[in-house]
Amino acid sequence: MSDDRLAALIAAALAARQRAYAPYSRFTVGAALETAGGEIFTGCNVENSSYGLTICAERVAVGAAVAAGQREFSRVVVASAAKAGPCGACRQVLAEFGDLEVVMVDETGRVERRRRLAELLPEQFRLLDYRP
Ligand code: THU
Repeated sequence: MSDDRLAALIAAALAARQRAYAPYSRFTVGAALETAGGEIFTGCNVENSSYGLTICAERVAVGAAVAAGQREFSRVVVASAAKAGPCGACRQVLAEFGDLEVVMVDETGRVERRRRLAELLPEQFRLLDYRP
């Protein structure tokens, strides 16, 4: 887990944030998801006239990665001006794929907080844990 790799993830999250479609909230978010194999998939928030249909950056990144055949993730970097952590819905969606490290950065890429997903969402609901 070298700093170079983290720097690349942060750069990817910042670049994705630039592509956010957020005309309603004007709150832009970028996410960069690192696969177990070291690939990077990104997402940005995509808002909608029907506000409730808005998709967060993290879930866009998960969708892109899964659609490309990836299901094992080691880290996600979330970039926003508020250094925000993933919302509750995104925590649940990320938890589907295991206990990632979540790195929250500001709009310049400065690392604000690093947490395990299990700290951000304790006692996760994982249906697969109830099945053989
Ligand atoms: N947003 C994200 O993209 N990720 C989060 O974890 C928090 C919220 C977006 C959704 C909406 O477009 C904007 O930020 C304000 O809520």
